[in-house]
Amino acid sequence: MAGRLEGKVAFITGVARGQGRAHAVRLAEEGADIIGVDICAPIDTVDYPLGTPDDLAETVSLVEKLDRRIVAKPADVRDLSGLRSALDEGVEQLGRLDLVVANAGVMPVFGERSRTMEAWQTCLDVLLTGVLNTVELTYPRLIEQGEGGSIVITSSMAGLKPMMRTEARHTLGLLGYSAAKAALVNLGQNYASFLAYHHIRVNTIHPSAVNTPMINNDMCAAGFEVSDEQDLLALVNAIPVTSIEPEDVANAVLWLCSEESKFFTGNVVRVDAGASLR
Ligand SMILES: NC(=O)c1ccc[n+]([C@@H]2O[C@H](COP(=O)([O-])OP(=O)(O)OC[C@H]3O[C@@H](n4cnc5c(N)ncnc54)[C@H](O)[C@@H]3O)[C@@H](O)[C@H]2O)c1
Repeated sequence: MAGRLEGKVAFITGVARGQGRAHAVRLAEEGADIIGVDICAPIDTVDYPLGTPDDLAETVSLVEKLDRRIVAKPADVRDLSGLRSALDEGVEQLGRLDLVVANAGVMPVFGERSRTMEAWQTCLDVLLTGVLNTVELTYPRLIEQGEGGSIVITSSMAGLKPMMRTEARHTLGLLGYSAAKAALVNLGQNYASFLAYHHIRVNTIHPSAVNTPMINNDMCAAGFEVSDEQDLLALVNAIPVTSIEPEDVANAVLWLCSEESKFFTGNVVRVDAGASLR
């Protein structure tokens, strides 16, 4: 049986692990070929490890096991020219571009460095300018191809509600994370508005805590250990689970990329286990 994305090509950022990898695998399961990038290196202000070349190789292997093609390159979403080279190479090899998942992200929200302006700036650069770069590079190709398309921007529950209930939780990193994720809603809706004419849809997706190395790391473990109970309440889901799985988000991304959502655009899509109800 043909997959729901047969013949499509998806560009995914932050593809080495976590949600980016889950998106690559889920879209490939439905027939898409993948162009993927990941920084595959640490960032100074981020106190937990980011994806590695080995992680990226694992994503490649998982997609290839599904008999789909993947062009995966190390690239930093903050660096427009590096991102362009990776995208160009992917489109040249795979022949087209239909879907974009702007997913790469960092969360420098605990520890000493999270209290610096550099942490704030890293969040704006990676989470906001990185998404801008991704969409600016890709939407002209979608218009030129003339067959519509779907752009999914990964925001967060943190972009829709405050995560700080006490001053103890205050860091410039968390403010930067939240502000950038909130700004993505406006960015996404502007793109959705002017791209609608071309049947190119743009939606933001807002997960609650997702079980990935972004939260399963020493920095977060130490941070949560000393967090005020009030602040931990900001993370409570209505459906009684502490976190959701990357695949739960990938299923929503798949729907947003498929024809089944062809008139769904400019929306804020919560995959948050009801967190915004609490
Ligand atoms: N994990 C959560 O609880 C959670 C909740 C809501 C939203 N999010 C968002 O989901 C997205 C995916 O995060 P995840 O949970 O899979 O975390 P993750 O840390 O497992 O994966 C993020 C990937 O992005 C890559 N990356 C980071 N900076 C990059 C850059 N400048 N250029 C290219 N690649 C870069 C990392 O190397 C890593 O492989 C992020 O935007 C994150 O903010 C995560």
